[in-house]
Amino acid sequence: MPAQTHISKLTLTDFRNYATLALDLAPGAVVFSGDNGAGKTNLLEAISFLTPGRGLRRAPYADVAREGGGGGFALHARLDGPDGQAEIGTGISVGEGEGGRRVRINGAAARSAEDMLEWLRVVWLTPAMDALFTGPAADRRRFLDRLVLAIDPGHGQRALDYEKAMRGRNRLLTDGTRDDRWFDAIETQMAETGVAIAAARAELVRLLAAMIDRLPDTGPFPQADISLSGDLETEISTAPAVDVEERFRRALANGRDRDRAAGRTLEGPHRSDLLVRHRPKAMPAELCSTGEQKALLVGIVLSHARLTGEMSGMTPILLLDEIAAHLDGGRRAALFSILEELNCQAFMTGTDAALFSSLRGRAQFLTVDHGTVGPTEDA
Ligand SMILES: Nc1ncnc2c1ncn2[C@@H]1O[C@H](COP(=O)(O)OP(=O)(O)OP(=O)(O)O)[C@@H](O)[C@H]1O
Ligand SMILES: [Mg+2]
Repeated sequence: MPAQTHISKLTLTDFRNYATLALDLAPGAVVFSGDNGAGKTNLLEAISFLTPGRGLRRAPYADVAREGGGGGFALHARLDGPDGQAEIGTGISVGEGEGGRRVRINGAAARSAEDMLEWLRVVWLTPAMDALFTGPAADRRRFLDRLVLAIDPGHGQRALDYEKAMRGRNRLLTDGTRDDRWFDAIETQMAETGVAIAAARAELVRLLAAMIDRLPDTGPFPQADISLSGDLETEISTAPAVDVEERFRRALANGRDRDRAAGRTLEGPHRSDLLVRHRPKAMPAELCSTGEQKALLVGIVLSHARLTGEMSGMTPILLLDEIAAHLDGGRRAALFSILEELNCQAFMTGTDAALFSSLRGRAQFLTVDHGTVGPTEDA
């Protein structure tokens, strides 16, 4: 069991509906309760900025800066982990907008947001993900790539490099460029990064599937059968990477006319999908009930948290927005005891603190009210 990494202090400035906020946080479970619109999800979103990317809402930074504030936002966290304390700050300055947010670690500018992964891993589950199994493949791909990133910090850069190369190829396609050398150069890059992406995804699925197998057969969170659709992901499990790369490079070269007609690249890891089945019911996840889908997703996220802890040596910080909403009492109790066993700091939200009453004495209860946060009175 890895030692716990937790946020002991969080401060926000001009972040969503918080003008300023300073919070002392306990290790273990933290429950934020409060009315609709109080600012619970905003707190989780702030914490989600302690990992690379745009946070759990994937919002433009301009939307994150407080309305009526100066135009920028900042957040700062003190971390307590196995290697001692660390201070991470991030935000955007006034007028910086979409140029990217800055990250400082222990007072020094980080080379990139990926540097935060040396200190902590953050994983989330939000109501927006309730439609994960029924919604578009792009959402599942993004979910999958976040799962990979938590165990393999290089994955973010890989994905960016592939996207950039593909955008370059798409531009050549729509420009009507016929220069084969340009295509060759870009397609070679796409083949290299694309196969690396597929290999990292396949590895994550292999490791996660083994972790899911450790869930009890008849537990509250059903075992999921997970697999990948996508030519590269399928090939990479049986063929050497160099061969898959060469095959993909040739497929791109041969597909230029087809892709020119479509105006974009039609083959590659940007078209792959994560396939999930409910094992006990032998049913595709998308055909399961709302509650069954939620339980399946919780099982995947908890198994992934365990995997992240074992692989990185750091317990991930979990953000579980509206987690109690679809879970019955038995499943809620099971969730709380698994979280304690995982030894993670877990932030949970709900409009009603009573749904978390079985955690009394074992969690920090905070009430959120219009951009202020204080101890929950009768918790
Ligand atoms: N940039 C911003 N500046 C000021 N307020 C904002 C900004 N962005 C969002 N808000 C407001 O923050 C408030 C709190 O939002 P949040 O999503 O955190 O609520 P919540 O407590 O999670 O509510 P619910 O229970 O409905 O999920 C909302 O009223 C929203 O309009
Ligand atoms: Mg909310």
